[in-house]
Amino acid sequence: AKEISDEEKLYRYNGVLYSTLLSPEEHLKCLEKMQAREDDIMLVAYPKCGFNWMVGVMRKIIAAATGVKSESKIPPLMEFYGPENLKVESVLDEAPSPRFLGTHLHPNNIPASFYEKKTKILVVFRNPKDTMVSFYHFSNSNPALPSAKSWDTFYSQFMSGEVAWGSYFDHALGWEKKMDDPNVMVVTYEEMKQDLSESIRKVSSFYGFSLTDAQVQQIADASTFKAMKESSASSHGNMGNVFFRKGEVGDWKNHFTPEQSREMDEVFNKRLAGTKIGAKLNY
Ligand code: A3P
Repeated sequence: AKEISDEEKLYRYNGVLYSTLLSPEEHLKCLEKMQAREDDIMLVAYPKCGFNWMVGVMRKIIAAATGVKSESKIPPLMEFYGPENLKVESVLDEAPSPRFLGTHLHPNNIPASFYEKKTKILVVFRNPKDTMVSFYHFSNSNPALPSAKSWDTFYSQFMSGEVAWGSYFDHALGWEKKMDDPNVMVVTYEEMKQDLSESIRKVSSFYGFSLTDAQVQQIADASTFKAMKESSASSHGNMGNVFFRKGEVGDWKNHFTPEQSREMDEVFNKRLAGTKIGAKLNY
């Protein structure tokens, strides 16, 4: 990887911070023109909300329901794709349907074509405190992101949305506007932790896949934190331990000061209380 300073690792596009190395401006510009398909399987999550967990689950659901292994060349995040891959006869364009796609982009920055084609979009969300903790550790272990310096510094950056892919709260409020859209479904990390089989059933029926109870059970067994961490070296190479860190609800209690926790509660109440997405987050 190219050696660049922490300051150069993030840049602004349409007012939001992005990773210079992972999703440079030419990628984001190119994505705006991307053509969606009605039968694309689109997975969206704010960073650290459990995206890779759901990628693992979805790949198994797709394989069980269609018999097609979606390992393919398609990477989990569309914004990692550059112009060379989005043009005709490229990996994305020539991929057979259904394409399994993913992104961390804010709903307003997802290519318009996905909404026009009424592509089904699955959104994974997680309570903001655990998301922040996960993002903090991730920033310190992912060389593409600036290191978090201290917890207190990262806390301030997260609260003001000065982190890669932007503000957690802005993303949540963006999805709030689409909560009644039948082509959008939100599943939470906490819900998956509580009853993974139920989440697998919900997601499958959203995409019109029917699985047997045995298939659901098999997928759930293969998608526990332990199982996914164990296979992470083959799925995520040397980033395996970074993407599969702790996998628990409530790790925020080991990081937040009482004052930070109170402030987060206030911001959550001010911005998300009374919203449908806020209720889903069951905060
Ligand atoms: P922690 O850092 O709290 O452990 P993302 O994939 O969006 O980057 O999210 C990463 C978070 O999801 C990490 O949280 C990771 O451990 C957790 N995760 C990944 N797979 C999981 C699983 N099978 N069960 C529970 N949590 C999982």
